[in-house]
Amino acid sequence: MTGSQKQKPQVRRRRGVAAALAVAAAIPAAILLAGCQSPSILRAEGSAGHEIVTLAAWIFGILAFVLITVWAILAFDILTGRKRREEDASQTRGNLRIEIIWTAIPAIIVTVLFVLTVITTERITMPDPGTQFTAVGRQWWWDFQFRDLGFKAPNEVYVAVDRPTSIDIESADVIHSFWVPQMGGKVDMIPGHVNHIHFVPLKNGTYLGECSEFCGAQHGKMRFLFVVVSPAQYSAWVRNQQLPAREPTGTDAVAGKQVISSVGCGSCHTIRGTTLKGTFGPDLTHFGSRGGIAAYTLTNTPANLLRWIQDPQAVKPECKMPQIPLPLQQQKQLVAYLEELK
Ligand code: CUA
Repeated sequence: MTGSQKQKPQVRRRRGVAAALAVAAAIPAAILLAGCQSPSILRAEGSAGHEIVTLAAWIFGILAFVLITVWAILAFDILTGRKRREEDASQTRGNLRIEIIWTAIPAIIVTVLFVLTVITTERITMPDPGTQFTAVGRQWWWDFQFRDLGFKAPNEVYVAVDRPTSIDIESADVIHSFWVPQMGGKVDMIPGHVNHIHFVPLKNGTYLGECSEFCGAQHGKMRFLFVVVSPAQYSAWVRNQQLPAREPTGTDAVAGKQVISSVGCGSCHTIRGTTLKGTFGPDLTHFGSRGGIAAYTLTNTPANLLRWIQDPQAVKPECKMPQIPLPLQQQKQLVAYLEELK
């Protein structure tokens, strides 16, 4: 055989190794590119999604480094090993130092991946006690209960931006569904069962929430406001909500407090700091601070509140609020009192 004939199979083998490495490198690249088509979990817009994509990028980076290192060592050995003339490869069995090194390196890599995963899991699942409450669905309104903080905020709830919001979800009557479309995720509210939703609101704003499970005649008028504010504004809101009802100052409002205590509103409504302690209807302790009436069926203005008190069934047929016959003057006093409850 001539020298050139001996060389040919070796060149072919080298080209084969190079082609195999190129194909192996193309596989992860193809997986990444496939992820760019919509819809893709790699294009997360939610807080948990962002965490998971970041973790995936770290894990992919670390594993790619390991893979490339192994390929490089392998390719180096294949290419240089052919030039050696030994009958047998060098033996490393029983070499304690090498055994320790190649046990320690994978152990360290696995530990790093484990720690990164635990950190991400904690970030996704650990609720911040500062923004934790229970949402109870009722026909047809929302009872947001801050049980640890000692207040209820019906139909209008505040949360802090960029902080985990953790909500236990319950129902007091039929199946409803908690939904703030711009926060993502619908969760059924099932009688006798506690569901859970957890997310981080990423942008300040006032978002409309609604019931997304048919729950009776006024399913369509079962809305709420989900207000995302700075942590300082959230703390201020909590402090105000924790206070008992303020004492009325205006003449009509003072008279209105007498009216509301005498006409039976307390069998359904609570106003903390007064004799009203009912739990069937919304807590009215800070009614005047809210933007809506009857789960955002009406905006909260004195004229709308008067209309609501005069004939709730005309505004929201089949709602549980009864019509209480009162002279117009007393109705107006009642409105004046409720609107002062900021
Ligand atoms: Cu509640 Cu639909």
